[in-house]
Amino acid sequence: MTSLTPSPRPLRVAVLFGGRSGEHDVSLMSARSVISALDPKRYEVTRIGITLDGEWFTGANALEAFEQGNLKGLSRVILPGDPSHAAAYALRMPALSEAEGTDHGEILHKLADIDVFFPVLHGPFGEDGAIQGLFEMADVAYVGAGVAGSAVGMDKAIFKDVMRANGIPLVKSALILRGEIENDMASVVAKAEALGAYPLFTKPANLGSSVGISKCNSRSDLSEGLLDAARYDRRIIVEAGVKNAREIEVSVLGNEEPQASVCGEVVPSREFYSYESKYVDGTSGLIIPAPLPEDVANKIREYAIRAYKAIDCAGMARADFFVEKETNRVYLNELNTIPGFTSISMYPKLWQASGVTYADLVDRLIQLALERKTQRDHTEHRRTA
Ligand SMILES: Nc1ncnc2c1ncn2[C@@H]1O[C@H](COP(=O)(O)OP(=O)(O)O)[C@@H](O)[C@H]1O
Ligand SMILES: [Mg+2]
Repeated sequence: MTSLTPSPRPLRVAVLFGGRSGEHDVSLMSARSVISALDPKRYEVTRIGITLDGEWFTGANALEAFEQGNLKGLSRVILPGDPSHAAAYALRMPALSEAEGTDHGEILHKLADIDVFFPVLHGPFGEDGAIQGLFEMADVAYVGAGVAGSAVGMDKAIFKDVMRANGIPLVKSALILRGEIENDMASVVAKAEALGAYPLFTKPANLGSSVGISKCNSRSDLSEGLLDAARYDRRIIVEAGVKNAREIEVSVLGNEEPQASVCGEVVPSREFYSYESKYVDGTSGLIIPAPLPEDVANKIREYAIRAYKAIDCAGMARADFFVEKETNRVYLNELNTIPGFTSISMYPKLWQASGVTYADLVDRLIQLALERKTQRDHTEHRRTA
């Protein structure tokens, strides 16, 4: 690995957390670990919290303020989508004397130029290409996948099409629109049952953290599951269930030559890896490395890298697989482009087991963000003579 070239001043890193997502609180936990791993001698951290309503705030204690749900004393902050202002700006109320005779409510106050933005935002708006689009507009360096990689990683339906085109094995699935459920439940049920025997899984195409996902053991479960998923998205996926599925995960790190970690296994504490089992009980166990025959583990790592390259991922992703207990058949489930990142999360733990410490991992991600930005700077965006 290349090391950071010594810089005359600490690198200024803006860590973004919270967000308009069901994984808002998980993001705060991930951000706490990332910030504690950033060596203050080498990094100057700007904390930017995004509320559940999408408002941006900054302040030295912004993370604690978000954790406690009391944002008093924080300043509002904006990132203009204009490269000539590739910096974040805080908005503050002008002092009374400044305000006299004007009708400007707030004034802009430039924060120090930021070298790298580090979105530690899970789920919609943070992991789906939305904020990455803003970073691209502003022409700033940022950690993780770009717009397309993020968007495809988030959309379970499009993701599956891209994986099938790349010869990566998946479970059988069908895409269903909310309108079809509303207008013709009978043919939706027929389409779903054609995938295989129960259990079937119903999922909103674009969420995370198991929100809106149901394991359906019967036709009546199925219609309930479809209606529930349709509350969260216009597009719904129905999947054949893998019987006795083991859940195997691999961490991938890098830009154009990504590396895969050892495999880990999640042992859910509930019937499946639901939101409760992920975050509420905290009792799901992780086994690292996963007990798997070497050829199976290697195949999984190879699929993880192939999937990563296929969506033009960058920085990091965690690839999640199902392995059928009896046959060791492997199916890719999904790629998470901003995986859970607390110090006890699978993504960093798999790297730890592969010889990369948490602090090294954070350094490496920042380095990869800067490399990607340099590449972008060498790309022409219009025809030149
Ligand atoms: N086809 C399937 N077969 C067996 N279990 C599944 C299947 N799809 C989902 N699950 C279970 O549901 C969990 C959540 O599904 P997943 O697609 O990973 O959603 P999310 O994006 O919310 O993490 C999985 O970790 C697994 O426990
Ligand atoms: Mg998952």
